[in-house]
This record gives sequence, C-alpha cells and structure tokens, in this order.
Amino acid sequence: MATARHFICSVLVVSITLAAAYVEELDDRFNEMRRSEPWLVEFYAPWCEYCKTFEPIWYDVAAELKSQGSHINVGKLDTTLYTDAVAEFKIRGYPSIIFIKGDKYFHYNGQRTKDAILEFTYRVSGPSVRALTSVRLFQHVLSRHQLCFVYVGGRSPLKGQFYKVASEFVIHNYFFSATVDVLPQAVTLQDGPSVVVFKDGSYDIYNEVRDGNLSSWVDRERFPRYFLMDSFSLYQMGERTKLVAVAVVDEKNPSAESIRYKSLVEKVATEYSDQYSMNFQFGYVDGNDYINGVVMGELPMPSLIVMNMSIDGYYLPGYTVETTEDLLQFLNSILTGRAELLGGNGFLRRIKRLYYRATSALKTSFASAPFGTCFLISLPLVVIGFIVMGICTAERVDDEKADDGTHSAVTHRKRAAVKHSEAKKKD
Ligand SMILES: *[C@@H]1O[C@H](CO)[C@@H](O)[C@H](O)[C@H]1NC(C)=O
Ligand SMILES: *[C@@H]1O[C@H](CO)[C@@H](O)[C@H](O)[C@H]1NC(C)=O
Repeated sequence: MATARHFICSVLVVSITLAAAYVEELDDRFNEMRRSEPWLVEFYAPWCEYCKTFEPIWYDVAAELKSQGSHINVGKLDTTLYTDAVAEFKIRGYPSIIFIKGDKYFHYNGQRTKDAILEFTYRVSGPSVRALTSVRLFQHVLSRHQLCFVYVGGRSPLKGQFYKVASEFVIHNYFFSATVDVLPQAVTLQDGPSVVVFKDGSYDIYNEVRDGNLSSWVDRERFPRYFLMDSFSLYQMGERTKLVAVAVVDEKNPSAESIRYKSLVEKVATEYSDQYSMNFQFGYVDGNDYINGVVMGELPMPSLIVMNMSIDGYYLPGYTVETTEDLLQFLNSILTGRAELLGGNGFLRRIKRLYYRATSALKTSFASAPFGTCFLISLPLVVIGFIVMGICTAERVDDEKADDGTHSAVTHRKRAAVKHSEAKKKD
C-alpha cells in the first residue's frame, strides 16, 4: 500500500513538474522575446489566491500546446516585479490571460478551463479571417461552429471593412472568406459581395442600408438568438446595446414551470425575432448565482427577468407569465417605458454591489465566475464599501420600506438573524 501510494505521489510530482516546465517564468526580457514569437501569458500576483487555484490549469494548457507541436510559447509574469506590464496590457485583475503577437494582444474573457482557453488560443493565433477553399470545408465549418461570419465574393471595399471588423471581433467569433463557387447549395445570395452570418441553423445577410455599419451589425449579431448564457456571456452583455431577457432555471431540478419559461423565451426569440431582436438578447441561465449579484438578493428559480447589464438594472414581470402574449406584453411594457426599472448603478447601489460581490465571491466556483479574480482597482473600494455599508445598513434596518423597493441581501440576512434569535429566546 505504502509503496503504491508513494509511487502514485511521485508520478504526480513528476508530471506536475514536467507540465510546469512548459510554462516559462517571464521577466523584463519578455519585451524583446515577444517581438519574434507568439506568447500566451498569465499575468499574476503572488498574493492572489485565485492565481494559485488556476496554476494547474495553466500547466495543462502549456502541456497540451506542447504536445500538439504548437509554436505558441506559454509563460507567466509576476506583475508585482514587472509593474509596467499592468499599464501596457491594461490589466484590471488577476489572473489575466493574454495572447500576445508582436504589438497586438488579445485579452481572454471566458471560462478558466483548459479547453476554453485552448479554443481561444487557436482562434486568435491564426489569421482573423480564414479562407474557405472548398464546398466541403465550408460545410465542415458550418457544422462545427454554432455561429460564424463569412464574406462571400471577390475584392471589394466591403471585404476591406470585413477584415477590419474581423480583427476587432476575433476574440469572440470566427470569420471566414469564400468565393461564390464554394457556397453550399442551401445558401442563396444576391449578386455582388456579401457578408453572411450563419447561426441558429439559418443565415442572415448584412444589408448596409437596413443594418448600419458592418461593425455595429456584427456586434448585434455575434450571439445566437437564444442560448445558454454562462456568467461570462452575461458579463459581456454589459458592453452591448441590448437588454438581456432570460429564463433563470435550475437545470438540475427542471420543474414544469421552468421548462415552460424556457420554451416561451425561445419561441419569442425565434418567431418574433424581427420585432424584438434589435432590442433584446434572449437566452436562459442555469442557476441564479450571477443574477443574484445584479438583483442583490435571492432571485427565485424559475424566473423571467430582463436586465440592462450596462447599468445593472432589471425588470420583473410582476405577474405570472403563462402565454406568449404575457411575455410579449412584458417586453412591450419595457420598450414603452411603462415597466419599472429596478436596481441600477447609482453611487450607493454600486458600493452595495461591490460589498455584495466581495461577500459572495467565496461561495461561487472559480472557473465559472468572472469575479473569480483578484481585483486590482476595486480592492480599496471594497474596503470603503464595507465601511459605508456598515454605516448605511445600521441606519436603514428599521425603515426598510424607505429602501429603493428591493430588499437588499444584507437586510434580509439581518432579518433572518433577528428571527433566529427570537426563535431561540422562545425555546
Ligand atoms: C458604426 O456605427 C456606430 C453607431 O451606429 C458608431 O458608434 C461607430 O463609430 C461606427 N463605426 C464606424 C467604423 O463607422
Ligand atoms: C440601459 O440604461 C441606460 C440608462 O438608463 C440607457 O441609457 C440605456 O439605453 C439602457 N440600455 C438599453 C439596452 O436599453
């Protein structure tokens, strides 16, 4: 037994050191090294606990790239020793994963898993527009990617714009170019060059007059009409100009109601896309962890919620949504300004939110939370937040009704604590 365990342990130690050997500890010479070769770099700080949790994944990423014979180097850089990097690469938290190729660099914002990081690396390390040279290749790409953009045609000003937009959005999506003769039969375009988005088993053609400039169209179209949103995609929605309408469900305990909510949202997303896709991004979310951070309380599951992620504001229907008409009525009330906007990012709400995130960060799993990050700038803010929260909640516990209509997690918890101690007294 003891020898077997000993053997396993030494195998583990050897393989970890081997994997670690593929990750180079970088120093100030990095600035010259990056000129000649592409690098995937983890920027970290020794005090950051999340960086330590992340380390084994990073070693796996390096070992996998090595075993594939990739020319991409993998490194890590201690930003407390090489502080210039923070400003140069616009680092806002740790660990930061950045792919660097000469003067260009791409921040990774997805889940911190080996596969997701490798996929990102593959996408950004190649050309931002890849050529589809045969019908078979075209079909292969369509079957492999849930969503992609394709330029079809010869040389044109539109092609130039497409390349420019592709280099901006390649961190999120795949971009291809093809000539008309390799177009699959199922696709028909009008004459002349086109940009096409393939998604949801169908396609849409960019129309400059109707859709505005190519960049804003790609930004609107770069998500499927309806999809499972993880915390990273929700986080990204903050940079967008659409409201996010989701069914919040517990996939491990799918009740009849949650299935109904999902299918209602999906139906509106697909059948009413013409009317609503300009203003809404539809989807569903498994679990309420991230959204609790927006509403700063416990959102029941299943729920329907519409969020304005850029200001952390949200709308709730306020009645039971039974039919498609109910849901459309809810969406219309938001568009016409009749629905009440809850939450938002006023100064106090922002401090409350930092406090909420700081206190709930411990509960959420690292790989699935965008806040599984040691923040560079907000750390002092969180401290201030704690102090301010202390002052505000001390004054507010008694007149909860005077609050902004929503129950904060803190007052909830305090109330629970009061009830608890009352119950104890009775015993
Ligand atoms: C595209 O249009 C958006 C707004 O519609 C604007 O903010 C952006 O600057 C435009 N981009 C280009 C490249 O013209
Ligand atoms: C979110 O709220 C802000 C501030 O009220 C507003 O300017 C913006 O248009 C809203 N976003 C959407 C997508 O409606």
